[in-house]
Amino acid sequence: MAASIFAAVPASPPVAVFKLTADFREDSDSRKVNLGVGAYRTDEGQPWVLPVVKKVEQMIANDNSLNHEYLPILGLPEFRANASRIALGDDSPAIKEKRVGSVQSLGGTGALRIGAEFLRRWYNGNNNTATPVYVSAPSWENHNSVFMDAGFKDIRTYHYWDAAKRGLDLQGLLNDMEKAPEFSIFILHACAHNPTGTDPTPEQWKQIAAVMKRRSLFPFFDSAYQGFASGSLEKDAWAVRYFVSEGFELFCAQSFSKNFGLYNERVGNLTVVGKDADNVQRVLSQMEKIVRTTWSNPPSQGARIVATTLASPQLFDEWKGNVKTMADRVLLMRSELRSRLEALGTPGTWNHITEQIGMFSFTGLNPKQVEYMVKEKHIYLMASGRINMCGLTTKNLDYVAKSIHEAVTKIQ
Ligand SMILES: Cc1ncc(COP(=O)(O)O)c(C=O)c1O
Repeated sequence: MAASIFAAVPASPPVAVFKLTADFREDSDSRKVNLGVGAYRTDEGQPWVLPVVKKVEQMIANDNSLNHEYLPILGLPEFRANASRIALGDDSPAIKEKRVGSVQSLGGTGALRIGAEFLRRWYNGNNNTATPVYVSAPSWENHNSVFMDAGFKDIRTYHYWDAAKRGLDLQGLLNDMEKAPEFSIFILHACAHNPTGTDPTPEQWKQIAAVMKRRSLFPFFDSAYQGFASGSLEKDAWAVRYFVSEGFELFCAQSFSKNFGLYNERVGNLTVVGKDADNVQRVLSQMEKIVRTTWSNPPSQGARIVATTLASPQLFDEWKGNVKTMADRVLLMRSELRSRLEALGTPGTWNHITEQIGMFSFTGLNPKQVEYMVKEKHIYLMASGRINMCGLTTKNLDYVAKSIHEAVTKIQ
């Protein structure tokens, strides 16, 4: 037999966050804790199907008018409209002026990918491989790869995290925007920045918007945690809505994985805000071509669940309650962890644990301390020191806090 034609294919390293979960599963130590996974967990450490989702799933199962015909290429119209409405707000002038378009996508990742592909083809001329794309340092690691795979060659980082003060490096960020070539694309986390849990304040967003407008930079928002950060959909969409009110044309990739707990249904939406209806229609016509060759038509189940929930005032209220349950548990775990570390007298300051928002916290643990946590304590977290607050429970808080204390005091 001849050698395989795939003989020269190099093995790619596993995706870090999934590898961490696989290692956790194999660990037989009864004290083990997974603080790596990017999903909500209950106080029992279990995944949570939102009660409103369960209810709507039953409604869908019992609805004999539904079938499994293909959806339109751009997706379920009522899903797209409602998804964009919760990003931009009920009274958004852009929606009233019909200059908002939407593309149902396979999760937030799909929205980023379709948006990136469109921008490479059609943003500011029809060859954007050399247009700089700026990603925050640090960021969700997939931002870089998604834009690279869409053909962008010049992916840069902008200052974001100030490790010394464990907060936002606003000046560094603004300086990078001042220096960026005009028409550069900036990926901005709409809320609950992953991995740092640190967002600009409204005042800081205003400064960011002012520079971006003056320098003609394109905002591509990534909104993966709306409602999850503060418990309020409005608060968590403040930045996107402010940019729209300032007259920006922009993209916003929305994920319903976290705030609906629909991780494996792949529900996302790309909201497009343009100058006028005609521009948006032409953009959507190109988006349709991209979707056609990418996944052809999107899946319906998750989109139906979200659309049904968002369209009914009663279900919408129930959902907001469910989201608040998740957000409140995260807030509780933050304050409980901080108070334990402070009570133990763990060296350093721990106010960042409660000041950061969303699912993640950047603990400030260095890679050696992380290694100690994993190897000695069976507590799994990303090498960056990022922890998922949902991995904490009332039962493992003491153990995690004591282990962090040991890691920080024993290992420099
Ligand atoms: C910042 C950010 N953007 C996008 C996503 C992708 O979400 P989805 O699973 O819906 O593709 C995630 C998921 O972890 C994320 O953290």
